[in-house]
Amino acid sequence: MQEAEIMNVFESAPAAPENMNIHHELEQKVYLVGGELKTWDGPVQDVFSPVCVKQGNEYVRKRLGSFPVLTEKESFEALQAAQDAYDLGRGEWPTMPVKKRIAHMHAFVNAMKEQKQEVVKYLMWEIGKNYSDSEKEFDRTVEYIIDTTEALKNLDRKNSRIEKKGDIYAQIRRGPFGITACMGPYNYPLNETFALLIPALIMGNVVIFKPARHGVLLIHPLLKAFQQSFPKGVINVIYGSGRATIGALMKSGKIDVFAFIGNSESANVIKKSHPKPNRLRSVLGLEAKNPAIVLADADIELAVSECISGSLSFNGQRCTALKILFVHESIVEKFNAAFVAKLETLKMGMPWEKGVMITPLPEKDKPEFIKGLIDDAVAHGAKVINKNGGASVASFVYPAVLYPVNASMRLYHEEQFGPVVPILSFKNIAEPIQYMVESNFGQQVSIFGTDSNEIAELVDPLVNQVCRVNVNCQCQRGPDVYPFNGRKDSAEGTLSVTAALRVFSIRTMVAMKDNELNKKIVSEILDQRKSKFLSTDYLL
Ligand code: G3H
Repeated sequence: MQEAEIMNVFESAPAAPENMNIHHELEQKVYLVGGELKTWDGPVQDVFSPVCVKQGNEYVRKRLGSFPVLTEKESFEALQAAQDAYDLGRGEWPTMPVKKRIAHMHAFVNAMKEQKQEVVKYLMWEIGKNYSDSEKEFDRTVEYIIDTTEALKNLDRKNSRIEKKGDIYAQIRRGPFGITACMGPYNYPLNETFALLIPALIMGNVVIFKPARHGVLLIHPLLKAFQQSFPKGVINVIYGSGRATIGALMKSGKIDVFAFIGNSESANVIKKSHPKPNRLRSVLGLEAKNPAIVLADADIELAVSECISGSLSFNGQRCTALKILFVHESIVEKFNAAFVAKLETLKMGMPWEKGVMITPLPEKDKPEFIKGLIDDAVAHGAKVINKNGGASVASFVYPAVLYPVNASMRLYHEEQFGPVVPILSFKNIAEPIQYMVESNFGQQVSIFGTDSNEIAELVDPLVNQVCRVNVNCQCQRGPDVYPFNGRKDSAEGTLSVTAALRVFSIRTMVAMKDNELNKKIVSEILDQRKSKFLSTDYLL
């Protein structure tokens, strides 16, 4: 890519198509507590887009609006509202029959669908995700919600029976834990957050949700849908710093579930502040540094194509991104040449431009951080092997490919979460395996090769290092029905459409001895539908 093209990347920013443009700054003043959209007139945080506009000779981030910076006081109001709704497990929501909870969820998803254009527009402007990925994120979330309701129906059908073992009858169902604090990540501010929030809610928990650092305004069009679709206090949406809001609540000991996607350092600080950690259920998606291992007999074209999209989709800002590439020494020159050539063909530009892949970065300090990683690798002997790799203007960084990377460099160990691709060669397969054994991360790996013996030999040691071994394809979370999890510092708990229903609930049962008195009691309860839990009604 020519330097001039990179430096002029923001030239087209003012020319966003009418239906994707933002004409007015959104001063978002409301937050949702106890079913009420309360107005905030305290301090706010400005929201700036990664998309920059020219001011004089400089490119500056376009201002999109602002959101409330709530304090502990409002966070505790949200907690009170959640406690009232849960009512120690006796509230309307936690005791509501599954069928009715599903109806609330359907009302929400219908109202959500009406906001698609607005949400997709803010996804582009707030985090710089391209149009097709933003649209995909929205549609995937809608599908996730619908699949979740179907999965819950199935679960409920399986549990709509009374079992007998020995002389004990039992009905086993899954019940909620209580109050769930939910925080998602900025790279999937809708999908990943909702993949926590929706199963938590539908299992009967009540939720206090704080949007991610970036991707906050895009929740605004959904606030009314939340308000109108659920009983008051079941979902509360608050804004501000994680420490002042969720951090403060955690110290109260009143949070039962901590659902969080982010880094392990923050997760540990928040978890440790719970006075009774034994009472806290944590569901965490954390950092990762998924390697690709390209074997000597790999189909290079396929490996390059998967490694390009694996490492650079959404500028590498995916927890599942390929963040280090191990390539066999016999093919590394060929692989690097093909990788760099393919990178040259990637379109860069503004998120709404058709076919664009490389876009500006939402985090203010990210270009500086990426430069630090590149400088460090170069100082320790790596070269930037693609033309103008790492060139940067304002919030935009053109991807850099570094080779050969080694253990003395930060890029070897640290998660870059951005457009920089470290490559190193290996002679013996024991080298990348050792890297993974010693790594603090344990999410996924991709292996590329054509020999079934070699692949089989790799699969067996690697499945105990990570939770998903991808053969001849990049790492990814989807399809959402498959388990998404990680070892070591990469996750706690497993998410998938069905697994999420389990992590946000606990098995609970009613048991009784087989005798005439109990048979009479149970028959009367079932026949006259006296209980919502002890029931054999089959959900159609
Ligand atoms: O940031 C992590 C996401 O869960 C990755 O999801 O593999 O579908 O991009 P994805």
